[in-house]
Amino acid sequence: MPAVEIKPNVYWIGVNDRTTDLFEGLWPITKEGVSYNAYLINDEKKIIIDLAKALKTDEFFDHIAEIVPIPEIDYVVINHMEPDHTGVLRTFRKMAPKAPILGSPKTKAMLESFYGITENVRAVKDGEMLSLGQMTLQFFSTPLVHWPETMMTYETSQRLLFSCDAFGGYGALRGAIFDDECEDLDFYQKETLRYYVNIMAKFSRPGLKAIEKLADVPVDIIAPSHGLIWRQNPQLIVNLYKKWAEYATGPTEAGITLIYGSMYGNTENMMNAVAQGISPTGVPLEIFDAARTHVSHILPSLWTKAGVMIGAPTYEGTLFPPMAQVLEMAALKRVLNKKIAYFGSYGWSGGALKHLQKIVEPVKWELVDSFEFVGKPSDEDLRKGKEFGAAFAELIKAQG
Ligand code: FEO
Repeated sequence: MPAVEIKPNVYWIGVNDRTTDLFEGLWPITKEGVSYNAYLINDEKKIIIDLAKALKTDEFFDHIAEIVPIPEIDYVVINHMEPDHTGVLRTFRKMAPKAPILGSPKTKAMLESFYGITENVRAVKDGEMLSLGQMTLQFFSTPLVHWPETMMTYETSQRLLFSCDAFGGYGALRGAIFDDECEDLDFYQKETLRYYVNIMAKFSRPGLKAIEKLADVPVDIIAPSHGLIWRQNPQLIVNLYKKWAEYATGPTEAGITLIYGSMYGNTENMMNAVAQGISPTGVPLEIFDAARTHVSHILPSLWTKAGVMIGAPTYEGTLFPPMAQVLEMAALKRVLNKKIAYFGSYGWSGGALKHLQKIVEPVKWELVDSFEFVGKPSDEDLRKGKEFGAAFAELIKAQG
């Protein structure tokens, strides 16, 4: 995709990544892709805001050269040091050695540790302004959105906010870079939630602080470093981020995430009975097989829904390992304050429930009910399982 002018003399110069399988080496994006958005302002002073992963280096520098000869760039702003936005920095340095790198004070130290760059780096202060000629930038410190050094850059005359990771999402751009040109906003909203919970959720409190800090700053366009640029309805993405951040400690949606794992189908049979109990209550239900679904896709449901129904057998005296891995990641991501119920099969001794409680106790998941059975569930077990599912759903519904 060639560079796109998003406002007079302000250009999107990003690149799409449809070849990386795992974002951060961890989160699957094979089908969805991701974009690394960067921006160029061509004023009396010429400045680049954020860079890109060292992946499509030629394409990235070609974008810049379409507009400005690279050695004529006056500054580069690093809003965030993570290498998906800075991977081409050393190459850029060689091409434009005189352009100072601007970032937060913590960026300075990270530039040395990540890239060995110490020269011609300038730390900007929170609120500092930089005149480019007709346009003026202002820098806002927004620590821990996503890393400690993170900041955002605001252009005052055209009211553009370059927010980097904040307000971003998975999903390579499909020709359209703006929300109002996008034919499938549902896809980007879904992938933005997955990105939020995978990447940003642990930093929800700093995210809310940043939203509060910038609440009185007039913004016409939100230009993040991943996903769509929000110009028709920038408030939409702010409201979504705010809602998801508030889920970190506040009330969530009256729904149930049912995660199950099964070795020989016995716990799966019970899962179907439990789901039959939940379904007639009308409580929204999502079902995931822990062994066959990457946790990246389970986390959004866990984050947004109040109830978690966990079905897994005992495996060698512990919780079925794929389930333990899902719950351990949920705990790492600080998915807090859930109401949970557990069911599962065991062969000769239990142990799964005890292990489960150990994993979720630090994140304050409250076990409200449990139901274990030996081997294959009997007809009576399945009848009880249905009632067990219905009772849990009614409890979640009553909280909604
Ligand atoms: Fe898109 Fe935290 O990097």
